[in-house]
Amino acid sequence: MSIRNIVHIEDDLLRKHSRPVTRFDDRLHRLLDDMADTMYDANGVGLAAPQVAVLRQIVVIDVGDEHGLIELINPQILETEGTQEGPEGCLSVPGRRGIVVRPSRVKVSFQDRYGNPQELVGEDLLARCIMHETDHLKGQLYVDIMEREIFEDEEEDEEEEEQ
Ligand code: NI
Repeated sequence: MSIRNIVHIEDDLLRKHSRPVTRFDDRLHRLLDDMADTMYDANGVGLAAPQVAVLRQIVVIDVGDEHGLIELINPQILETEGTQEGPEGCLSVPGRRGIVVRPSRVKVSFQDRYGNPQELVGEDLLARCIMHETDHLKGQLYVDIMEREIFEDEEEDEEEEEQ
């Protein structure tokens, strides 16, 4: 198990586009394992490779539902449906949260760690997380698109979720 350093908002790396993964080898598997360890260690529900300074199209997600750990390599959003408005945070933007409008349902194609093509439909928090993480691969952060910042003195009914 290996925890990697998480890059913060000041770092220009987070603003760059990530390149597709072409090699589905041991090195990729080690990175995926490290990304999961790093996400769980930070109590996050999602992590994108640029957040650990790797500009590749790789995402890990675990929103604590029946899907468990999800690994998305070269993800492409195929369809979005509906809208949801809710709080969002990011492991690369510590100490801040904001209200972000996202689709309520998304369909994504991707490859698994062996390069096999897959599809996944996510709803609610999973849909939010898929959008948040795939935005990271385009150099976009939630603070760019949030409706407004959430301040500490506001009532928060929802659990903290950092991505
Ligand atoms: Ni994030």
